[in-house]
Amino acid sequence: MNNISEQNKIGSSLKKIPLSNNWNANLYDDKHSFVSKYGEELVDILAPKPGETILDLGCGTGYLTQLISESGANVIGIDNSTEMVDKAQHQYPGIDFRIMNAEDFDFKQSLDAIFSNATLHWVLNKQRAVECMYDSLKTGGRLVLEMGGKDNVNGIIVALKNSLLKHGYVKEAGINTWYFPSLSGYTLLLESKGFRVMYAEHYDRETKLQDNDNGIKNWLKMFGGAYLRGINESETEKILDEVQENLKGTHYREGSWYADYKRLRVVAIKK
Ligand code: BEZ
Repeated sequence: MNNISEQNKIGSSLKKIPLSNNWNANLYDDKHSFVSKYGEELVDILAPKPGETILDLGCGTGYLTQLISESGANVIGIDNSTEMVDKAQHQYPGIDFRIMNAEDFDFKQSLDAIFSNATLHWVLNKQRAVECMYDSLKTGGRLVLEMGGKDNVNGIIVALKNSLLKHGYVKEAGINTWYFPSLSGYTLLLESKGFRVMYAEHYDRETKLQDNDNGIKNWLKMFGGAYLRGINESETEKILDEVQENLKGTHYREGSWYADYKRLRVVAIKK
């Protein structure tokens, strides 16, 4: 059972940041639940213990936060999206969820561990995120994370940018909405701040998408909104149809669509 009143004392002075990604929490749970499912292995690596205070950074709709809390740890879930946090709080009312930005939080060395699945590639000010994580952990506290690594979903990004350019959306094609670091780039960032990196892996994880008809289109609607902002609906549909069609040779087989995920997994300790 979580001690919420105790948790609420931690970091109570933190700012609530307005949402920047307009997430669709229902589409996320309906069609993209693989994000949380794959994260279960990361919870095993975290190995949460009763009584520990753990932050789930980028908790989404709270599935993994709940899984961590089943260990008896006190978990706080934070996410930048109001819609995600609202849904998480509704689904798991016994857990402390808060709207917070990964570039601007401070739990003042109170955390035994920080867990983060499929979030840090959204945080473009990576230096600040590393500082916030470092400052929030106790000495000896652990950071267990997985994010998109170098060349993650590169096939999808290239196909989308090509279609945007073809349709005259030059500015949109130039957007960089994600940070997919190499193993050496990210571990150096952590080490420069004072983390000891115990384990790091950059691996391929081709990921089956849940919609057999429109897997790529749905993935882009869910996650690629920044590239399509301002483009009207019919034009968006045309571009997404084209992207999906162009990916058929490489991202579709035996009736299913796949995304070319490349993951970066790291375990580090605050020295
Ligand atoms: C990822 O988990 O790697 C990811 C998810 C959404 C957009 C980009 C990357």
